[in-house]
Amino acid sequence: MKILITGSSGFIGFHLSKLLLKKGNSVYGIDSMNNYYDVSLKKARLKILKKYKNFSFSKANLENSKKIENIFKKVKPKVVVHLAAQAGVRYSIDKPRVYLKSNINGTFNVIESSHKCKVFHLIMASSSSVYGANKKIPFKENDKTESQLSIYASTKKANESMAHSYSSIWNLPITMLRFFTVYGPWGRPDMALFKFTKGIINNKKIDIYNNGKMYRDFTYIDDIVKGINLLIKKPPNLKQKNKFKNDSLSPIAPFRVLNIGNTKKVYLLDFIKQIEFMLKKKAIRNYMPLQRGDVKQTLSDTKLLRKITGYKSKTDYKLGIKKFLNWYINFYH
Ligand SMILES: NC(=O)c1ccc[n+]([C@@H]2O[C@H](COP(=O)([O-])OP(=O)(O)OC[C@H]3O[C@@H](n4cnc5c(N)ncnc54)[C@H](O)[C@@H]3O)[C@@H](O)[C@H]2O)c1
Repeated sequence: MKILITGSSGFIGFHLSKLLLKKGNSVYGIDSMNNYYDVSLKKARLKILKKYKNFSFSKANLENSKKIENIFKKVKPKVVVHLAAQAGVRYSIDKPRVYLKSNINGTFNVIESSHKCKVFHLIMASSSSVYGANKKIPFKENDKTESQLSIYASTKKANESMAHSYSSIWNLPITMLRFFTVYGPWGRPDMALFKFTKGIINNKKIDIYNNGKMYRDFTYIDDIVKGINLLIKKPPNLKQKNKFKNDSLSPIAPFRVLNIGNTKKVYLLDFIKQIEFMLKKKAIRNYMPLQRGDVKQTLSDTKLLRKITGYKSKTDYKLGIKKFLNWYINFYH
């Protein structure tokens, strides 16, 4: 199958591309290779992907509508997985406009081109952050999502809304996947596990927000990409309405929202303790107040994804941390 992946040099895009290539698909990657974090990490991921003969790549910015349209016309993908975005909750406080350009304009261009190419299934990255200030956990797809706390989360919520309208007008099958804190080898340098590990190894203070009183549904990267792979062949279809009762399928469009997470919440201080234990070294802790825009806890309900695909996350956070540390030490030292 010919699959176009945006953000293929990013953390999730890299792992997904690799899995799909191994399974014999053709993958066409698009990435701007921007410098939000260490570009050499993106280059190293891309170098690995380029070893596969079924992999092609364009360095392109999704904000350039003409360029994106031409790539789609040339590639004629059957499936599109749209992962490129300006990610990160904290950065969105300082640089909100970057998010509007990349996540709103860029995403619009992907939806528009997917419609013009009549793709079989468009899967797009949303985020657990759209649940915002919701108190009820676990988060379910049908919970209200009206209280985003950051511009990052707002752009993801806007993406869901844009996708629904296009899906209903053009009958375009779209799944919005709400990811819950993804971590693992080749992970993002701006995320907790990477920053804690780097700080501990280099004897630098690590910032711990809300004095550590946070819970996250940490989801291991292999579970995420396996879930996406299972979903690719299952585009939403209005006839499924009765099959998957109470789901998040739109009543009027082949559009749905699905959570993808590990379904276990981990206390942040336990997470840090585990990194210390594995590195045999104590962190220098800098306890901080809750960062604006951040939520105190996340926890996914993934029953719906399981019903549709059989998805079940397998990786316990202790094993996941171990695998990350093995990669980190090997890559950086
Ligand atoms: N990692 C997580 O925990 C997590 C959680 C929730 C949602 N998400 C979402 O999943 C997706 C993938 O996240 P990730 O962790 O792999 O992030 P990432 O930053 O590692 O990957 C995104 C990639 O997209 C590229 N990109 C950004 N803007 C672009 C643009 N305008 N045009 C072309 N390329 C562009 C970047 O260069 C990067 O390589 C994102 O949409 C993110 O918002 C991730």
